[in-house]
Amino acid sequence: MRITVFGAGYVGLVTAACLAELGNEVLCLERDPARIALLERGQLPIHEPGLAELVTANVGAGRLRFSSDADGGMAELQFIAVGTPPDEDGAADVEHVLQAARTIARRMAGFQVIVTKSTVPIGTAERVRAAVQQELDARGSGLSFAVVSNPEFLKEGAAVHDFMQPDRIVLGVEAGTAGRRAAALLTALYEPLNRHHPRTVWMDTRSAELTKYAANAMLATRISFINEMANLADLIGADIEAVRCGIGADQRIGYSFLYAGCGYGGSCFPKDLQALGRLASEAGQPLRLLRAVEAINNDQKLMLGQRILARFGDDLHGHVFAVWGLAFKPDTDDVRHASALVLIGQLLRANACVAVYDPVAHATARRALEQDRSLGPEALARLRYASDPMNALQGADALAIVTEWKQFRSPDWRQVKALLRQPVVFDGRNLFEPRLMAEAGIEHHSIGRPPRARLAMASAGAALPAQGGQNA
Ligand code: UDX
Repeated sequence: MRITVFGAGYVGLVTAACLAELGNEVLCLERDPARIALLERGQLPIHEPGLAELVTANVGAGRLRFSSDADGGMAELQFIAVGTPPDEDGAADVEHVLQAARTIARRMAGFQVIVTKSTVPIGTAERVRAAVQQELDARGSGLSFAVVSNPEFLKEGAAVHDFMQPDRIVLGVEAGTAGRRAAALLTALYEPLNRHHPRTVWMDTRSAELTKYAANAMLATRISFINEMANLADLIGADIEAVRCGIGADQRIGYSFLYAGCGYGGSCFPKDLQALGRLASEAGQPLRLLRAVEAINNDQKLMLGQRILARFGDDLHGHVFAVWGLAFKPDTDDVRHASALVLIGQLLRANACVAVYDPVAHATARRALEQDRSLGPEALARLRYASDPMNALQGADALAIVTEWKQFRSPDWRQVKALLRQPVVFDGRNLFEPRLMAEAGIEHHSIGRPPRARLAMASAGAALPAQGGQNA
């Protein structure tokens, strides 16, 4: 099939490359010529495992092209995957989506299906329809078209896999002939992904738009729930990892997305929760639960810093701290709303020196921290980007781990102890087993795995199943 994808951002690129890989002829429209030149050389503006290879292979095979000229994009299937940044009120701004819709309408020469991939407020499909219709009316054109809502559920770091092996494909279609025609086209498009077992969930466009927000809200709720339980476990001497296994065994609950830690970040959860909160309030039903989820998460991001201050004093002048992990999660260089940036800000503002290491996110973190108005040049001068994890530890009073990159999982503890001034580890993602850390002579601060629970576990000779972050 011939397909046009608007936007070579995160969602657009993954969509374009994966649809090309499935054998379609894809034109990806992007306004930024520098980005196009980069992509044509197989270089990606984002770090996403497997994507560069897919782009290079499909550009080479002639199935994937990049252009800034919308005139070439007359395909029957038009995917809109442009950004929907939050406006000052936290609502998702759909202006770029509507602009793409108008561009499509101005060039429409036959029946077209306009598919929104971006995460958009409820009712956007109807606004897209109105924008397209207005342009067609202005042209005096009676062409028919369909609008489909097809939200993406990609996780950064696993986006190609998530596209190719989705848990579900949500398709919101309009009633009527055009909607049925669109459904037939999309059934054919997604047939390779439905071959072994059907994954498509059909619904109306509003439900599809809400499904995306509700999924992210549910996942964020699970994280804030377990974090709140972990904080309680710390106070009462219970082990949150044992509790996770205990509740997860109930199939109604399950184990995933119940890893306690120093809070969620990224571009999706914070942005989508705000947008959902905003649209619910506008609809006359403020979402009290979501407000609590957000508040708990904001507090959780402060937790590691507060514990370091409680352990080393309010003024950290003369102290040095090592931080492993800057990205909001492994396998990405995305630092948007990352817990590491919150911690680094707390430490620098308390006059500490900080040495950080992340396998890929130094450049993105540097840019974000330089834009943080609460940190002046003097504070930033106390921040060092280390060449490797061990280099960050040299002369540090403690190590804080904020992102569970695989390479941080089994460090040489003897070397760690030799490099640190004191063997103190703040384990923001519960990567390490408390008992083993105690045996190694390391003062280990975890999230919800306090010493009292550890002692009882050890004396009972109990062993917990594998633990250590959601990407274990
Ligand atoms: C998320 C959704 O998972 C995806 O379906 C949607 O399309 C976009 O938003 P993403 O933001 O890439 O994807 O990251 P995800 O893997 O979901 O993790 C989000 C954050 O939650 C990370 O900061 C992670 O560390 C944190 N997290 C996740 C926890 O703290 N505990 C968990 O148990 C799981």
